[in-house]
Amino acid sequence: MAKKPWAGRFTKGTAKVVEEYTASVTFDKRLYRADIEGSIAHAKALAKAKVITKEEAREIVSGLVEILKEIERGEFIFNPSLEDIHMNIERRLEEKIGLAAGKLHTARSRNDQVALDLRLYLRHEIQEIMGLARGFRATLVELAEKHLDSVMPGYTHLQRAQPVLFAHHLLAYFEMMDRDQQRLADCYKRVNIMPLGSGALAGTPFPIDRKYIARLLNFPEVSRNSIDAVSDRDFVAEFLAASSILMMHLSRLAEEIILWSSVEFGFIELDDAFATGSSLMPQKKNPDVAELARGKVGRVYGSLLSLLTTLKGLPLSYNRDLQEDKEPLFDAVDTVKASLRVLAPLLRTLKVHPERMRVAAQEGFLNATDLADYLVGKGMPFRQAHEVVGKIVLRCMKKGKKIEGLPLKELHKFSPLIGRDLYDFLSLEACINRRQAIGGTATENVRKALKSAKKRLLRFCKIW
Ligand code: ARG
Repeated sequence: MAKKPWAGRFTKGTAKVVEEYTASVTFDKRLYRADIEGSIAHAKALAKAKVITKEEAREIVSGLVEILKEIERGEFIFNPSLEDIHMNIERRLEEKIGLAAGKLHTARSRNDQVALDLRLYLRHEIQEIMGLARGFRATLVELAEKHLDSVMPGYTHLQRAQPVLFAHHLLAYFEMMDRDQQRLADCYKRVNIMPLGSGALAGTPFPIDRKYIARLLNFPEVSRNSIDAVSDRDFVAEFLAASSILMMHLSRLAEEIILWSSVEFGFIELDDAFATGSSLMPQKKNPDVAELARGKVGRVYGSLLSLLTTLKGLPLSYNRDLQEDKEPLFDAVDTVKASLRVLAPLLRTLKVHPERMRVAAQEGFLNATDLADYLVGKGMPFRQAHEVVGKIVLRCMKKGKKIEGLPLKELHKFSPLIGRDLYDFLSLEACINRRQAIGGTATENVRKALKSAKKRLLRFCKIW
């Protein structure tokens, strides 16, 4: 059992079950880089405040850099009886440089230290996720660009509704993920605040230049209230909320991929490298990747709920409950990154069957609304037109015909307003290209939407 930093006040060692229960180093070792970066900045601030000498700061910094290398080489031995990553690193520093190591924790508590580490870590991970999300959106654009002529049935209630361009459908996901990225970018602003110098809760009496630490670590702001700084985890909750919504979007796309690759739809076929087989049924090709992406959303929602529940009703300021913020956060980060990483190449490699989409778009009276609109164009009120077309559809269903399969004479019986021009009016292309109002599926619109999507991606690229 390692000697505890609080041993002075204690007459007994810690019980083994307590050590096991309280230790977090098995998972918070993930914060090692952030912890070391933060400690280096803190050592420099201590020297600037003349709390330690320049020489001591130099010793501390070079010791920490060595520890970083040890961890990265896999040589560092993490000791759970030293609880967490912070104490593991501090103890190792002591082994390396001796007494000066004991000065590093001046003007600092693990409470502001862990808040800093978490912010540094999350800042980095948000940047990573932003990069992946941008790549994912670029893949959507590429696929959409290839399918500017592919017509598919658009659905409501999963019933065929109106024809749309496949590109238009894909760009719907582009928009969702645009908002996801905006949410993450906004959350980043509140992650990007420097809490060190808050001490355990009340602030520090040492003349630490907190703005100097912020500059060293590239934070635009320092936290304004020490109690809040050590208690706040809403920046993590926000990240988990934004991640939950992002994953929810991915799950909707995943669901469509699953549906579309079924024989019933047959709109797409997954590349063999992105599908799996059955151990029993030799003919099977399964969309397990998409299913897992759909399924893993639950973990991220779970993380959000877990953290919100941990935070609920906690009295100010720091409470050890807050240690429970990490595993949900880490799991969500891993899940979001892995899902984006696997779904992007899955999309890039899938084979699309536009001919099957087109056939599906021709069955099921997807042009019925257009017929109603046609009658409106000839002066009939829409409600009446709706009813007339309903009757035509009923007749078609009885006869097993499409609307455009009925001869003009028969259509005339439903309304004398119908003329020969109706047949062109009802073609898939005509139905699509009429929808020219902003945001509609007309080819010209979608072409413009693609252009704007590319521009927006590029702009995003410059910031992130
Ligand atoms: N491992 C702790 C956490 O994650 C670090 C802070 C410990 N602070 C304390 N007062 N025991 O929250």
